[in-house]
Amino acid sequence: MHTDLLMSKFIELENLSQLSAEISKIPSNTILMVVDANVYNQYRKSFDFLNIEGKKVHLWKCLEGEGTKSYDELKHALEFFLSKNVTRDAHLVAFGGGACSDFGGLVASMLLRGVDWSVVPTTLLSMVDAAIGGKVAINSEYGKNLVGAFHLPRNIYLDTAFLETLPKSEMISGYGEVIKYCFLDEKIYDAVVNKSDLQTLIHMCAKYKQKIVEKDFKESGNRVILNLGHTVGHAIEHIYKIPHGYAVLWGLVALFIVTGHPKMLARLKVIVNSLGINMDESPWQNKHFPTMDIVNYIRKDKKGLSNEVIQIINVEEVGQPNVTTYHIDDVQKMIQDKEDELSKFIL
Ligand SMILES: NC(=O)c1ccc[n+]([C@@H]2O[C@H](COP(=O)([O-])OP(=O)(O)OC[C@H]3O[C@@H](n4cnc5c(N)ncnc54)[C@H](O)[C@@H]3O)[C@@H](O)[C@H]2O)c1
Repeated sequence: MHTDLLMSKFIELENLSQLSAEISKIPSNTILMVVDANVYNQYRKSFDFLNIEGKKVHLWKCLEGEGTKSYDELKHALEFFLSKNVTRDAHLVAFGGGACSDFGGLVASMLLRGVDWSVVPTTLLSMVDAAIGGKVAINSEYGKNLVGAFHLPRNIYLDTAFLETLPKSEMISGYGEVIKYCFLDEKIYDAVVNKSDLQTLIHMCAKYKQKIVEKDFKESGNRVILNLGHTVGHAIEHIYKIPHGYAVLWGLVALFIVTGHPKMLARLKVIVNSLGINMDESPWQNKHFPTMDIVNYIRKDKKGLSNEVIQIINVEEVGQPNVTTYHIDDVQKMIQDKEDELSKFIL
C-alpha cells in the first residue's frame, strides 16, 4: 500500500487489449475487479475481466449505475472480497462510470483499512470528472455522496472507445460536467466554442481537474470551485431522478437566473449550441418551480458549512470563479423571487 501518492497517473490506451497489458503491470498479485453490470455485459466478449496475465482476479459485478452506491452493496462487496482472503497488497480496479468508481474507490478505501486502486472510466462524465481526484462515496437518505472518503486512484486508464456504446442521454449527461469546466477555465471554453474534438476536450477537462486536486486534495480550499452548479444540481438530481450531468446543467441555469447573471446564461447557450446538444426542456418546465424541495434538500445536505449557512460557487466572468457564503433563508428568498423566470426558461 503506497501512502506517498499525490497524483494519479493518466494512461491513454490505444485499444482494449492494451488495457489487459497495462493492468498486468500493476505491482500486485491480486486484482479486485469491480465492474458495472452493464459494462460487464457490453464488454465481456471483447475483454476477459477474469483473466489478467500473472494475476489472481476476483470479480465483483456491481449494480449498474447509481443503484450500487448504497450501504447494502458496500457491505456485500466488502464481505465478498474478505471471503476471498485478500490481503492488503491487493489492487482494486473500478471499471465503469462515476457510480462504479465512487463505489469501487470507497470499497478500496475501507477494505483492510485501504488497498490501492485504479479506474477504467467508461462514461464521458467519469473521464472528465468522476474518475479523477479520489473523492469516493455512497449515498445516504440525507443526500448524495454523504458517506465517503478521499482515496486517490493510482492509475486512470483512458480509452474514448468506451463512449461508442454509451447511450446518448449519458453522453449528454457527461457534457453537463464539460459545460461546468467551460465556466471555470477560459481555455476549455475557447476549445468548446472552436469545436475542438472530443478527445482534446476530455484531455483538457481531466488535466484541469487533476491540477486543482493536486493543490487541494481534501477540499479545504480552492477545490470547492469544482462544485459549480452542484448545490442546486444535487437537489435537482434527487428530486427529478435525472442523470448527474443533466442536473449540473440545470443547476447552472438556476444559479445564473437566481443570482442575476444573464451574461453567463447567454454564454451557457453558446456552449450548448457549440456542443450540439439537444437539451430537453427543464425538468420543471410549465410546472411550479420546486423551491421548497430544493431548499429542504440543501438544508439536509450536510456538506453546507452548517445547517443554515452554505457556500455557493459563482462566476462573474468565464475563468473567474468565486465563493460566497449565504444564509439558507436568503437563498430561499432569492429563488422565490425568480420562480416565474425559472419556470418559463428554455435553453
Ligand atoms: N467522485 C467525484 O469526484 C464525482 C464527480 C462527478 C460525479 N460523480 C458521481 O458520478 C456518478 C455519475 O456517473 P456517470 O455519469 O458516469 O454515470 P453512471 O456510472 O451511473 O453510469 C451511467 C449509465 O451508463 C452505463 N454505462 C457506463 N459505461 C457504459 C458504456 N461504456 N457503455 C454502455 N453503458 C455504460 C451504466 O451502467 C449506467 O447505466 C454520480 O453518482 C455522481 O455523484 C462523482
